[in-house]
Amino acid sequence: MASSGTLLFIFTALCVTAVKRFVKVECKAENVGQYGQHSLLECVVKKTTDIKDPKIRTVAWKKLTSPEDEGDLMLGFNRGKLDEPKRGYRFAEPLWDEKNMNVSLLITNTAVAHDGYYECIVITDSGDDSIVTTLKVQARYSVPTVHFIPEKIVPNSDSTLICESRGGYPKGTLCWFDEENHEWTKSSKMEVTQSDDGLFQLTSRLSLLGGFTFLKYTCAVFNASGGKENDKTFEMPAPSGETTERSGILYCKILWIYKIVVPLVVIGSLIVCVLLIYRWRSQGE
Ligand SMILES: *[C@@H]1O[C@H](CO)[C@@H](O)[C@H](O)[C@H]1NC(C)=O
Ligand SMILES: *[C@@H]1O[C@H](CO)[C@@H](O)[C@H](O)[C@H]1NC(C)=O
Repeated sequence: MASSGTLLFIFTALCVTAVKRFVKVECKAENVGQYGQHSLLECVVKKTTDIKDPKIRTVAWKKLTSPEDEGDLMLGFNRGKLDEPKRGYRFAEPLWDEKNMNVSLLITNTAVAHDGYYECIVITDSGDDSIVTTLKVQARYSVPTVHFIPEKIVPNSDSTLICESRGGYPKGTLCWFDEENHEWTKSSKMEVTQSDDGLFQLTSRLSLLGGFTFLKYTCAVFNASGGKENDKTFEMPAPSGETTERSGILYCKILWIYKIVVPLVVIGSLIVCVLLIYRWRSQGE
């Protein structure tokens, strides 16, 4: 449903398209907005020739679903007054008026839905111009939580580490590392879910078949451009006391065999040999 303001705007736009262009709208090609904060889509109107300062008649900020789309009017200024702006959209300049060439758009409380293409259309008494710019919304992933199943460790049996991180945008990835910083992500499977507010939740399961080899595993969350956002190191639960003791005793036994028994046997055999030779010699005399 087009509001009267939109119709009036389209009418004005049609009338003015024939006018020569002595102005152009310049925007930052890409604007980044943080989820939950203010986002700025920066655009200024510039003169292309040496004319007197132009006066703005119309500004229309539209949100497009694709760069070619007709779009919906979010913020409009036409013939001296604001066309009821959509909630959360306003001119970045608090006291904006038609003499102010800074027509930047401010989006308050940025949401995932704000991500995308915007068109800024400006009509002045010295011509008109329009340009499409983008807003990339980013939300930081939470510090991952890591837990282990089964809760009780059974030595040498299969287990799984589960890592979760939520509240991020755009889609990121979870990676696994051991305490020597070798990557284990290939042994894991990641699931991605998107909540109603558009934010992603990542869940990764690392299978540790036949028991684990390392005492610590780290789960790290990387954002869409590959930057590490957060990580969490998980210390494997200590195996039950009995096994540590047993393996400790076994280790001591092996050590004892190598350090004491082996040299004793070697020295003993040498002594026996020497004695035998000695006896054999004395018998032969
Ligand atoms: C336009 O106005 C906004 C809000 O006051 C400001 O942050 C921005 O730097 C201005 N841009 C230019 C090019 O003047
Ligand atoms: C990813 O993280 C890096 C480093 O923290 C940051 O500079 C970049 O803007 C982030 N990108 C996205 C898409 O979140």
